Amino acid sequence: MPLIFFEREGKTVSANAGWNLRKLAKKNGINIYQGVDKILNCRGNGLCGTCKVEIFSNEESAVSPRTAMEEKKLKKFTNPNLRLSCQVRVHGNVRVKTGPVELMRPEVEAVAPPMVSRE
Ligand code: FES
Repeated sequence: MPLIFFEREGKTVSANAGWNLRKLAKKNGINIYQGVDKILNCRGNGLCGTCKVEIFSNEESAVSPRTAMEEKKLKKFTNPNLRLSCQVRVHGNVRVKTGPVELMRPEVEAVAPPMVSRE
């Protein structure tokens, strides 16, 4: 039975293998959304991208692989631990970081300021 540690909340829960991470969080009173996203989300259909979490594990197969919806919604992010919790099935022990603000913004390339000539 996998153990899921929600880092920010300091709470560990257990679940049967294959449980959906979003449903598991919700069942245990853990909010994975930021602000109004708690109300304005796609209810776990992989469409809105508001249920992002970071997942860490020593076991390679602790969670299901990324779905096509995740690949589409997360393509702007370089963090390999970033997942849509509604698309994740848990099969092993994991540590989950919910809703960090830095995960809500896509990676942006640093752009050098324009060169200004003083001639
Ligand atoms: S709840 Fe909308 S993408 Fe997960």
